[in-house]
Amino acid sequence: MDFEFDLENRIVDPQDIPGDSDLENPLRPRSLAEYIGQEKAKENLSVFIEAAKLRRESLDHVLLYGPPGLGKTTLAGIIANELHVNLRITSGPAIEKPGDLAALLTNLNPGDVLFIDEIHRLSRSVEEILYPAMEDFAIDIITGKGQMAASYHLPLPRFTLVGATTRAGQLSAPLRDRFGVVLRLEMYTPEELARIVTRSAAILEIPVEQEGALEVASRSRGTPRIANRLLKRVRDFAQVMSDGVITYETAKVALDRLEIDELGLDGNDRRILETMIRYYNGGPVGLETLAAAIGEEAVTIEDVYEPYLMQIGFLSRTPRGRCATHAAYLHLGLQPPGAAPSAQQTLF
Ligand code: ADE
Repeated sequence: MDFEFDLENRIVDPQDIPGDSDLENPLRPRSLAEYIGQEKAKENLSVFIEAAKLRRESLDHVLLYGPPGLGKTTLAGIIANELHVNLRITSGPAIEKPGDLAALLTNLNPGDVLFIDEIHRLSRSVEEILYPAMEDFAIDIITGKGQMAASYHLPLPRFTLVGATTRAGQLSAPLRDRFGVVLRLEMYTPEELARIVTRSAAILEIPVEQEGALEVASRSRGTPRIANRLLKRVRDFAQVMSDGVITYETAKVALDRLEIDELGLDGNDRRILETMIRYYNGGPVGLETLAAAIGEEAVTIEDVYEPYLMQIGFLSRTPRGRCATHAAYLHLGLQPPGAAPSAQQTLF
């Protein structure tokens, strides 16, 4: 291939990068009232939280699923805040052994929220500890071997597990069934993101005009984490190039310089589509084949790139593989197959 992927410094990466996610981040909303968007999830959650508080019970276990960067950790923090309990954060890959999970669970206080990110990556042996913990608030621990083996039944405080995953389909059925509340997070609209950008700008004391906020928002791929990151980069341009105010013009110039186009696609997204079109006639091309062609892991393509490309209708998943849509050809300035040839054909 004649191009390189720069994944290390991808400004539109919806995944977490250091500094974005720590709970001290002042941009993180702390209450449901401050949280913008996800109206359906928010309305239901507020009822369940109020009801649990009225009954003085722990909240039922909550599963949050959806693409990365939509605020799953933020929501877990809000749930704990609204319930006035502690939040413990861990992740599927961080819990290596059943004993690691047992240690976490036995250290919880009554009512606490335990947040497990990437819960689909728990090992089978850890999952098996989690089932009775979620259902009966107890764990069974076996120590020793053979004749020395002993089993202990350890009661736990009542707690709320908040699990987050980008791939609900990969969760085992017994685990999925143990969540009383299942919430799907949706990508944000440009208007919602503009409200988030305006709120973040106020907190960071960055002067921003409404049209500037909307321009940043509409190139943020439906993802608050990206919007907040772009806001900070656009501020740099606004301060160096003009009086520091983010207007429509400064936002546009800055984002063009960052090579993030009107739809929020960066060079990597465009190269994925170009590869499909140039080398595979727009598809169908198998995920593994595409991954090999661009030197990227299949799961990264599936989790990081595809959700947004599908959301905007540029890529479709078919039983025979991935396809670039007509809209993708047109966005790249290329002639879609079957259309009359035109003078501005560029790639072939
Ligand atoms: N910052 C990041 N996500 C947010 C959201 N959903 N609402 C408000 N501010 C945010």
